[in-house]
Amino acid sequence: MTVRYRQVTFYYYTGSGNSRRVAAWMADAVRATGSAVIFSPLQSANPADDVGHGENALLVLVMPTHAFTAPWAVLRFALGLPRRKGTDAAVVATRGGLKIGQLYTPGFEGTATSLVALILAAKGYRVQSTEGIDMPSNWTALHPALPRRAVDGIIDHAQRKTARLSAEIISGAPGFANWRASLLGVLVLPLSLGYLLCGRFFLAKLFFASDDCTGCRLCAERCPNDGIALWDDGVAIRPYWTFRCQSRMRCMAYCPTQAVEASHMLAAVVLLLAGSLPTGVALSRLTAWIPSLRFLRMIPRWVLHWGTGLALLTAAYRLSHFLLRSRAGNWLFTHTTLTHAYRRYREPSTRVEDLWEREPPPDGGRSSR
Ligand SMILES: Cc1cc2nc3c(=O)[nH]c(=O)nc-3n(C[C@H](O)[C@H](O)[C@H](O)COP(=O)(O)O)c2cc1C
Ligand code: SF4
Repeated sequence: MTVRYRQVTFYYYTGSGNSRRVAAWMADAVRATGSAVIFSPLQSANPADDVGHGENALLVLVMPTHAFTAPWAVLRFALGLPRRKGTDAAVVATRGGLKIGQLYTPGFEGTATSLVALILAAKGYRVQSTEGIDMPSNWTALHPALPRRAVDGIIDHAQRKTARLSAEIISGAPGFANWRASLLGVLVLPLSLGYLLCGRFFLAKLFFASDDCTGCRLCAERCPNDGIALWDDGVAIRPYWTFRCQSRMRCMAYCPTQAVEASHMLAAVVLLLAGSLPTGVALSRLTAWIPSLRFLRMIPRWVLHWGTGLALLTAAYRLSHFLLRSRAGNWLFTHTTLTHAYRRYREPSTRVEDLWEREPPPDGGRSSR
C-alpha cells in the first residue's frame, strides 16, 4: 500500500460510539503502515500541537450526521482550527443506516462533510476526501434501535467500506464519492438550519428520567457537552437536560437502567400549542403600540414562532420536572412516550470507559482501543 503521510491526526465526535469506531478502524489502518497517529475526541483536542504542517501530515475529522448536516459542535471546532496551508484533510460523516423489513436503507449525510470541508478549505487545508459511512442509526428518541443481527450486518459492511476508504486516504488519492449527497443536502439546507437554530434545543428538552433512575450520575458524568445537570430534590437525585444537550444519545444508550426517555407527549403538546400561537397578531399589536419595535417585523415569522415555542417548551419542561417528582406524574410521562418500549442502541464494542472526553486522555490519546 502506498503511504503518503508520516503523521495522521484523527479527531472524532461521537455520541453512541459509531464515529469513534470508524475513526479507530482508520487509525489502526494507518498504524499498520508505521505512520504516527494521534487519536482524540474533539473536546480534548490540542490542534496547535497535534495537527502537522505540510505535505506529510493529514488531518481526519470523523463525526455523526445530525439533521442532514454536521453537529454544531463540529462546525464550531472546525472554525476554531489553526490555519494550515497545504496540510491535507479528510472529512468522514457516519450516517444512520436502518433495516426496514428485509431491506437495508442507507442514511443521508446531506451537507455534513461538505460544510466542514468548506471551512477547512477556507483555512488553507487541502481537502482530499469526503465520505459518508452507514453505521446503525442511534436516534432512539425517534425510533427503536435495530435488532442485534441487523446491527452486526450494518457494522460489518461499514468496516469493509472503511478499510477501502482508509487505503484511499492513506495513499493521498482524491475521493469525493458523496458529492450527490452534498448537492441534495443543499436542497434540505432549510431543515438543517432549522435544526441548528431551534430544533436541537427543542429535542434537548424532551429528555427525562423515569422512576427507574437510581441517581447513579453516569449520564451527567459521561455527557461530553456537560448537558445534564443533577438535581437533588431531597427525595432523589434526578438528571435535568439543559440547552447544552446536543442529542448525542449517549445518556439514552448507556444508562444502566434504561431510565432515560424522550417525552413524545411533551413534544406533541408543545408543537400543538406553538402551532396555534397568534405570534403574527401579537407582533402587529405590539408594533402598533410601540412603533420603535417595528424592526421586529424584519425577523422571519418562523424564527419568532420557534423562539416563542422554545420559551413555552422551557416553561413546560420546568413544569414537567415538577410533575415528574411524583409517582403519578412520572408514570404518566413514562407511559405516554414510545421510547419506553424502544430498544436502545450503542456501538456494540464501545464501552463507556472508552468515552473519556472530559477526562485526561489515556496514554495521551495515542491509543484507539
Ligand atoms: C439528533 C440526531 C439526528 C440525526 N440525523 C441524521 C441524519 O440526518 N441522517 C442520517 O443518516 N443519520 C442521522 N442520525 C443518525 C446518526 O448520524 C448515526 O447513527 C451516527 O452514526 C451516530 O454516530 P455516533 O454514535 O458517533 O454519535 C441522527 C442521529 C441523531 C441523534
Ligand atoms: S444514568 Fe440513568 S440511572 Fe444513572 S442518573 Fe442518569 S438516568 Fe439515572
